[in-house]
This record gives sequence, C-alpha cells and structure tokens, in this order.
Amino acid sequence: MTFQVDATDEWLALSTHAQATKDLTIASLFEQDDKRAQDFTIDTEDIFFDYSKHRITQETMALLTKLARSQDVENQRDAMFAGSKINTTENRAVLHTALRRPSTDQFMLGDTDVSAKVENVLTQMSTFSDAIRNETHTGHTGKPIKSIVNLGIGGSDLGPAMAYEALLPYSKRDLAVHFVSNIDPTDLSETLHHCDPETTLFVIVSKSFGTIETLTNAHSARVWLTTSLGDEAVEKHFVAVSTNAEKVAAFGINTDNMFEFWDWVGGRYSLPSAVGLSVMIAVGPTHFREFLAGMHAMDTHFQTAPLEHNIPVIMALLGVWYTNFLDAQSHAVLPYSQQLRRFPAYLQQLDMESNGKSVDRYGTAVTHDTGPIIWGEPGTNGQHAFYQLIHQGTRLIPCDFIGFKEATSPLGDHHDLLMSNFFAQTQALAFGRDHDNPQRGFEGNQPTSTLLANKLDPATLGKLVACYEHKVFTMGAIWGINSFDQYGVELGKELATKIQPDLQSNTTLSYDSSTNQLIDQYRSI
Ligand code: F6P
Repeated sequence: MTFQVDATDEWLALSTHAQATKDLTIASLFEQDDKRAQDFTIDTEDIFFDYSKHRITQETMALLTKLARSQDVENQRDAMFAGSKINTTENRAVLHTALRRPSTDQFMLGDTDVSAKVENVLTQMSTFSDAIRNETHTGHTGKPIKSIVNLGIGGSDLGPAMAYEALLPYSKRDLAVHFVSNIDPTDLSETLHHCDPETTLFVIVSKSFGTIETLTNAHSARVWLTTSLGDEAVEKHFVAVSTNAEKVAAFGINTDNMFEFWDWVGGRYSLPSAVGLSVMIAVGPTHFREFLAGMHAMDTHFQTAPLEHNIPVIMALLGVWYTNFLDAQSHAVLPYSQQLRRFPAYLQQLDMESNGKSVDRYGTAVTHDTGPIIWGEPGTNGQHAFYQLIHQGTRLIPCDFIGFKEATSPLGDHHDLLMSNFFAQTQALAFGRDHDNPQRGFEGNQPTSTLLANKLDPATLGKLVACYEHKVFTMGAIWGINSFDQYGVELGKELATKIQPDLQSNTTLSYDSSTNQLIDQYRSI
C-alpha cells in the first residue's frame, strides 16, 4: 500500500492556491479586512491564539482543513486516544494522553485498567516526593536530601529539565535539581561539585535502561557516592524510572525504588509519566497534578473542537502550509519568558525526532518535505542575536511568539518592557517599514503566531506542552508518517559501539579514509 498525500486533489488545490496568492502580503490582507485579527484568533483554555499575521486567507485555511480531513486526521486522532497500535513499526499503542486523564475516568486497554496503573504510580511518586520534601526520606547518614540529580538523556532529560526551569517559581527553594545528560565527563563532574554525597539523590531515568550515556553516568555517580558512604548507601540515594525492571535490578537498584512507566509512552512524550519525578519532587504533587490537568484540558480541546477552531490543528495546518507550499525550511519558537529557556530544545526532540522522516508509514519514500528544523531562544535574548536574519534576511521563517500577561516573578517594570518587545516584534515582522535607504528598509511579510496566556503556571505549561504534542501528531498524520518511532538514531549508536574499542588500541583501522585519519589523530595524543 502506498500513501501519496502530494498526489491528492486536496494537495494539488493547495499548490494552485499557493501560486495564485503568492503576491498577497500580510499587510495587504490586514488592509482588506478590519476584522482580520478577530477572524483568525482562537481564545480558549486560557490561551489566546492569534494567527492573523500569516500569509493566509480564509480560503487557505479551508483548503488546508480539507486536506487534513482527506487524510483522516480526526480518525487517526481518535485511534490514538483509544489506544490503537498507531505506532505500527513498533506495534505499540501511543497513549501519553492516558497519563493525564482524571483518575475517576477509567480507561481500559484490552483487559488492562490503564487508569488504575497510572494512578498507582502517581500515588507512589507523590508519597516519595512528599517524603523528600518533608525530610522523612533522608540520606544514608540521616541528613535531608538537598540535591536531586536527574540522570537521563533525550526524552528522559529534556522534558523534566524544561519543566523544572519553567516551574522554578513553584519549586521548593532549598532543594536544587540538576540534570545531567551528556556522556561528556564534564557534565557529571561539574554537577557533582555542587553536591554533597550525604544529601544527594540520584534519579536514574531511562525508558529502556540500556542507554549508554545514562548508564555510564549512573555507574560513575554510584562510584562517587559509594566511595564516600559505602555500598549500603545506594538504597537511600538511588531511584530509577523505567519500563525495564530487569535491567534496573541488574544495575543494583531495588525495584521497590523504581517508578514504572509503559511501552505505550514514547520517550519524547514521557514528561507526564514517572519521568516527571524530579519535577514533582521540586514543585510538589499538587502542582504536578495541576500540570497534568492542564495537559488533559488541551487533550480535550484537541479531541473535541472542530478542526477549524482547534489550536494544535491550526498550528499544524500552518506548518504544512509553510513547509510544503511556501518552501520554509525551519520554524522558530520564541518564548518571551526566561522560564521557558529550554522549551525550544525540548520541542526540537518532540518535533524533529517525531517528524524527521522520509519514508511513510507504509514504507514508501515520501516525495514531499516533512518535519521542519525547529529552533529558538527566549526573547529578548534572540532579538540581540539572530532576529536580524528573520527581519532582513532572505529566508522565510515562520515563528511562534509565546508570552504571558502576568509575570511569575515580578520586578519593577521588567515585564512591561519584555512584553512591549513581544508585541513590537510581531508587528515589525508582519508590516515592516519602508525606507529611502534599502539597507534600513524592512520588507515585513514575515509570518508569526502569537500564543498569549495569563501566567506561566503548572496548568498553562501543561496546556502548552500538550498543544505542541498534538501539533506534531497532526502534521505527521497529514504526511502519512509514523511520528512515534525513531530509527534514525540507531546507525550512529551502532557505529560508536564499533569505534569505541579502536580508540583504546593501535589496531589498523578499516573505516573510510577520513574516519581512519580522524581516529589516528585522536590516538596520537
Ligand atoms: O536515542 C534516542 C532515544 O531513544 C530517545 O527517543 C529517547 O528519549 C532517548 O534515546 C533516551 O532513551 P531512554 O529513556 O531509553 O534512555
């Protein structure tokens, strides 16, 4: 079976439409319609989503929605929520949405009561988090835990690291959470300079419990701990988050100290599972539950709102429009919030590991572009770095501006100054400025979406994360790819395993001449 979305009538209609509207500018679209801002805004779930500053007309959106319907997006969405094995290559259900359903809402997968399993783990996490926070779980020598070190990589790092920073104002201030992901020894060593073995808890997070970076860091962390406190200390200072109890036990962590999740939770979708344990310890179970409730509110919006009024769907349709019909290569995410400093990095994995595919779910090479390059930095820092290129460069870069009406940590007039930049930038990007001197003219016509929420609290963070998850899902559904596997990470891992012994020997190398030369250089030290 093949699947060629770019051969459908709906796709071809969009190509024709893109050609016919290529000279329309955002400024001219605003001139023609004084209700444009209201017409292209969705205000729901405490998120005010203004997508009027885009190179789109009502017809564009109608054609894009038609494309989505023709690709069965609604049924694909329902299949995901229902627990069908939509991750076909790995023969797995995709059920991160079940992690944030209200506990009263029983959800069965075959004979398994998924909601009961989820609630059990949440209760276990809450009990443990409370024990750390109220100092009843102490270290081996009886001192309270003051440093949490989350050891994980990819989805076992980026989600919790992003959420911890985002929710810092809600965190217990005398508990520091560190995130160590890189196998580069500097990452762990530099972090441990800030930690005392007697008061440090390691949370080893790995879905597979087979990831070389995480296991190497975990082994080194154990040596650091036991050198000071002896082997018996492991029990009080190491916990694991994984789907693989056998490997956790083999590592030497008592599975009573393991927090379980399941194969139907993809790594990059795992933040609302036990993978969020470090975040829960930092902000407390109540705030973590609020975060889950926010995600669920967005899940419900995604599931029930018509495509035309559905924020993640519209974000996805705009993504398809720019990627496939206006040749944009990248997409910038620009949070006007220092707390969302790690949000673009988190989204890079979410989006690029999900939709960076060139073969569709039937195994046929696609003949259209798929996932864009995702990048970004918080404003206003980005303004003093790369915004020049967005304003006056030659590339089309659709951007998401994310801002908040209220500061979480107010200070003088900082927030107004921040937000005046937020509003100014999308205005400048859309409308530009004429100037006699071409060097100083701004063409404008650079598309932006604005997501304006009340305040960056746990529920709002949950809504934002779920919104992007569903955007990524919808784009993958339209493109006909499986957004839930990641075979593209395998080859590099295999080759590294092969190369590693060669770095410690003098054997003759038999790789390509460049790789041989580079390894020889490395070995010459
Ligand atoms: O190599 C990619 C990947 O498999 C990601 O998808 C995943 O989030 C990361 O590695 C970490 O995997 P694990 O949680 O199994 O250690």
